[in-house]
Amino acid sequence: MPTRRRPRLRVLIGVLAGVLVLCGGGVAVATWTLVRATDTVGEVDFVRPLAVPPLADSRLDDQGRRVFDLIAREGRRDFRGDGRLTRTAGFDGDFLGPTLRAKRGEQVRVNVVNKLGEETNVHWHGMHLPARMDGGPHQLVRPGATWSPTWRVDQPAATLWYHPHPHGATEEQVYRGLAGMFILDDDREAALPLPRTYGVDDVPVIVQDRSFSRSGQFSKTRNSIASIGVLGDTLLVNGTVGPYLDVRTERVRLRLLNASTARTYNFGLSDDRPFALIGTDGGLLARTARLTRIRLSPGERAEIVVDVRPGERVTLRSTPPDLGIGGLSRRSAGGADRLDVLQLRAASTLTPAPPVPDTLVPVDRLDPSAAATTRTLEFQGRGINGRSMRMDRIDFAATRDTTEVWEVLNSDGTPHNFHVHDVQFQLLSVDGAAPPPELGGWKDTIYLPPHRPMRIVLRFTDHSDPNLPYMYHCHLLWHEDSGMMGQFVVVEPGQAPGRPPTHAGHGEHN
Ligand code: C2O
Ligand code: CU
Repeated sequence: MPTRRRPRLRVLIGVLAGVLVLCGGGVAVATWTLVRATDTVGEVDFVRPLAVPPLADSRLDDQGRRVFDLIAREGRRDFRGDGRLTRTAGFDGDFLGPTLRAKRGEQVRVNVVNKLGEETNVHWHGMHLPARMDGGPHQLVRPGATWSPTWRVDQPAATLWYHPHPHGATEEQVYRGLAGMFILDDDREAALPLPRTYGVDDVPVIVQDRSFSRSGQFSKTRNSIASIGVLGDTLLVNGTVGPYLDVRTERVRLRLLNASTARTYNFGLSDDRPFALIGTDGGLLARTARLTRIRLSPGERAEIVVDVRPGERVTLRSTPPDLGIGGLSRRSAGGADRLDVLQLRAASTLTPAPPVPDTLVPVDRLDPSAAATTRTLEFQGRGINGRSMRMDRIDFAATRDTTEVWEVLNSDGTPHNFHVHDVQFQLLSVDGAAPPPELGGWKDTIYLPPHRPMRIVLRFTDHSDPNLPYMYHCHLLWHEDSGMMGQFVVVEPGQAPGRPPTHAGHGEHN
């Protein structure tokens, strides 16, 4: 009997081995597609003029407030000129929104009208303002309703932005197209010899990655290895696929905004020429930094000035960002990707522009030795300090008029970043070392390389409210939606934190 069984056993083993090889092959192929680097260098046809978001109209009301209207609505757009309409959403249009612009000291009011078929809201990313005006998950606007936050702009000139923030639906709504830029001006910035003609030599560059399904819809397939969210193979800049910008001046200021939901970029120019980094999230730097690359994780901004020569073409490009991780995780998180972003086409005669000054604006350093409290925020899994976001739980209270030091740590092997509402912070150290110049100014969002503690210092000056919290979270929007977010309140000295309202939802009237 055993001898008669042998051949069958062999066949069985052979079949099993074959199945294993096939499966293994399948897994290998699947793995390869998941970790294959996207490389669009030299592959992008720059055939469309870069769309520049219009400056939002505003009017002064009888109280002297600058009033804007923003209407969130659904839309459709043919991004690639092949007749396939992508379902989108935008403010006042099909995709993205107008650029809001206000000056330090002005009182602004924005009428946010929700014409979507679902709840939404608008968060003013990077803005210092009272929690009830912040547009976080507690300020939901029901379909058909209008919410009209108002606040006084009280912070330096900066490139901020706005986007929805309903808990659990932020990724989806931003991905569909709900986002826009919010530029703040002040006298210090205005006194510097910098390019500042909007849409001419001072240009928003809102970078987002998308993949398109066969029917032309935005693909929502998440990379299952990196688990960071959706990474696309096609870049939209201000909603334009394959964009070029006609440059008519010797220097052009680009306001880079990474409005992608998961992808981190490493921006530079195709010939590696240096550019002048003049500002980051919360405003201008004290001194211009001459760099060849700048890494921006989701939510981060950088203002750069690029020198061009008459008649040339040079491409803004993203080369593999240093994510602080290696191997498969790095590749599957986009760490090996190269992407052409925007072609700059210099005219044959260029209007002269003054050199970018080395000294920009005074930046007061916050004093960590004055810190009342030191906190540790550990990002891991889908939570912070082992806890997942809860709308009815305030995680901690900061006291008005105090300075705090936070040690923020990513203890996963995958990318996270850190964003906090209400204040701009300063970085004290990256894994114990002094921060590089691009992280030396005002920041509200920073990349968190795994296992490298980032120490930041923050100061809470005003806008206390014991009940209504501000958020801090990972700005990889899928992580945020899945609970990697927490809530803090700013209280008066001696005041105890209260309770967030059980029912979210403002903006029924106004
Ligand atoms: Cu840009 Cu809490 O968000
Ligand atoms: Cu994250």
